Amino acid sequence: MSDASSAKRPRLRTRGAELLGVDYPIVQTGMGWVSGARLTAATSAAGGFGILASATMTYAELEAAIHKVRERTDKPFGVNLRADQTDVMQRVDLLIREKVKLASFAQAPGRKVIEKLKENGVLCMPTIGARRHAEKVAEWGVDAVIAQGHEGGGHTGNVPTSLLVQEVRRAVDLPVFAAGGFHSGQGLVAALALGADGIAMGTRFLLTKESQVPEHVKAEYLRATVNDTIVTRAIDGHPQRVIRTSMIDALERSSGLVRFFRAAWNALKLSRITGTSFRNLLVEGLAMRKHQDLSWSQLAMAANAPMLTKASMVDGKLEAGILPTGQVAGVIDELPTVAELLERIMSEAEETLARLRRLEND
Ligand SMILES: Cc1cc2nc3c(=O)[nH]c(=O)nc-3n(C[C@H](O)[C@H](O)[C@H](O)COP(=O)(O)O)c2cc1C
Repeated sequence: MSDASSAKRPRLRTRGAELLGVDYPIVQTGMGWVSGARLTAATSAAGGFGILASATMTYAELEAAIHKVRERTDKPFGVNLRADQTDVMQRVDLLIREKVKLASFAQAPGRKVIEKLKENGVLCMPTIGARRHAEKVAEWGVDAVIAQGHEGGGHTGNVPTSLLVQEVRRAVDLPVFAAGGFHSGQGLVAALALGADGIAMGTRFLLTKESQVPEHVKAEYLRATVNDTIVTRAIDGHPQRVIRTSMIDALERSSGLVRFFRAAWNALKLSRITGTSFRNLLVEGLAMRKHQDLSWSQLAMAANAPMLTKASMVDGKLEAGILPTGQVAGVIDELPTVAELLERIMSEAEETLARLRRLEND
């Protein structure tokens, strides 16, 4: 076990860091096909808070991943769940049994899930993209929120991070982790100034040595500029920020019917990969349709998306062309280790705070 967490730096003891039990107020978010045991363990071991992505794992894979993180660190970590997964309650039971510190969600879980987590001492931290969503989940009793602004990676809302964080801060009395566009200590200090209790980063952690994404795919992200990302609904019906590729352009141009048949075909292939039977996929899809009010064509696209994303992010087939990213990829040009990254962010934060203090004294 190699816990390289460094107590040398000031810890910026925010309410968020206290809640998560970490040295640094920095969360590595759950990213499907990206945040596996290696990345999550490295983050937690280095003093941040790592989150395993489980929406793209089978139950057995999630169980094995939790054990792997535990073998590498005794620091706290979390698991990202999809609230509309048919076995979500079983996964919640697993988190309780394994004493996982926190469950995060891309979309708000229902009251039942939140209550069960709380009764059993597991923290609940959904990602929200609008003030009213923060208010709703606060009322339901969540412990913290990740407020993700428009520039953030994957599914994302309309409000820029700088405005969302302030709105959410005013609306709810909970620890808030600002997400969308962060990569540096300057950004961390800016988030704290806006009222956040820390930052949550996806893309920056995707672009580290420990992330499991193939090297030539990481190189594609490093090449992207801030103008090379796009928010599209053409992948699964919901706005999602990705690198603009020729596949994305083709999807944007193609008709709903073409997308539907391509999606249905890929959904079948996905059922083989995740070990979900086609029947279960259908049951899950119907539940999703009911919860999220999707049309049949959107539903088929939603089922299709993980398949294409897996082909791009895991198999490294760049022609599959679905590379979820934050706009921040445009300012990232190297692949540090997670420990180097966290150290750098904390020392930049320290320098920035000193610079601001000098402004006051001059
Ligand atoms: C490749 C990728 C996959 C993602 N998958 C998920 C996911 O499975 N669940 C989730 O809650 N958020 C997911 N997200 C969103 C991130 O967790 C995070 O909120 C976002 O990346 C923050 O913005 P940033 O990339 O600017 O740091 C994903 C983002 C990326 C880039």
